[in-house]
Amino acid sequence: MPSLFKRFFARLPMARSSRAYEFALEHMPLPEGAQVLEIGAGQGFGAAWLSRRLPQAQIYSVDVSMDCLKPERLEVGPHPPVFIQASATDLALASASMDAVFLVMTFHCLPQPQRVMQEVARVLRPGGVLILADVDGRHWMKGPFELVEHLFISKLTHAYTPDELASLVAQAGLDDFRVVRRPGKESGFMMWAFARKPVLRK
Ligand SMILES: C[S@@+](CC[C@H](N)C(=O)[O-])C[C@H]1O[C@@H](n2cnc3c(N)ncnc32)[C@H](O)[C@@H]1O
Repeated sequence: MPSLFKRFFARLPMARSSRAYEFALEHMPLPEGAQVLEIGAGQGFGAAWLSRRLPQAQIYSVDVSMDCLKPERLEVGPHPPVFIQASATDLALASASMDAVFLVMTFHCLPQPQRVMQEVARVLRPGGVLILADVDGRHWMKGPFELVEHLFISKLTHAYTPDELASLVAQAGLDDFRVVRRPGKESGFMMWAFARKPVLRK
């Protein structure tokens, strides 16, 4: 039954929106030719959008399940995304191989958040960035959001506060943590968090 709901929610227009990705790139431009990992492919629209928006980049998109993915419906860029079935807790990607890791509306439903953040830090190159967009755990929607998710999608769902994220990011050894919000009606409900893997200097 939960998988039916997952499929239903994945079909909502919001789930296909590229706005979360677009807003993130406005605040964290990436170099041409970047190696980019998305955790939580869902239907694959985010990864497809990134491959069009960053035509020189190579996008990898990991998901624990390929059930929602519809590759034939995706409009991809010149370098199509590579979809990989794996868990965020065990990324099966080389260490220090990624310039950026995206987690869009995904971190809230992952198991072992500390382990996931360590995996993110492991696969990022020094100077690479974490880009996380999710429900702000301080918003009044936290309760209703978690309730619906617990009932229909996953008992794991937890809407993190910026402080909780800051702590996880610091424990994983990332720095430059900051949170921004979109002005307008989404203000306060969605937050975008950014962090960077330090560049080691001699
Ligand atoms: C709400 S969707 C977000 C999809 C996409 N990023 C978007 O914004 O449209 C969350 C995705 O996280 C995936 N997911 C859940 N647990 C996971 C895990 N342990 N490792 C990797 N992906 C996982 C789910 O299968 C689902 O596709």
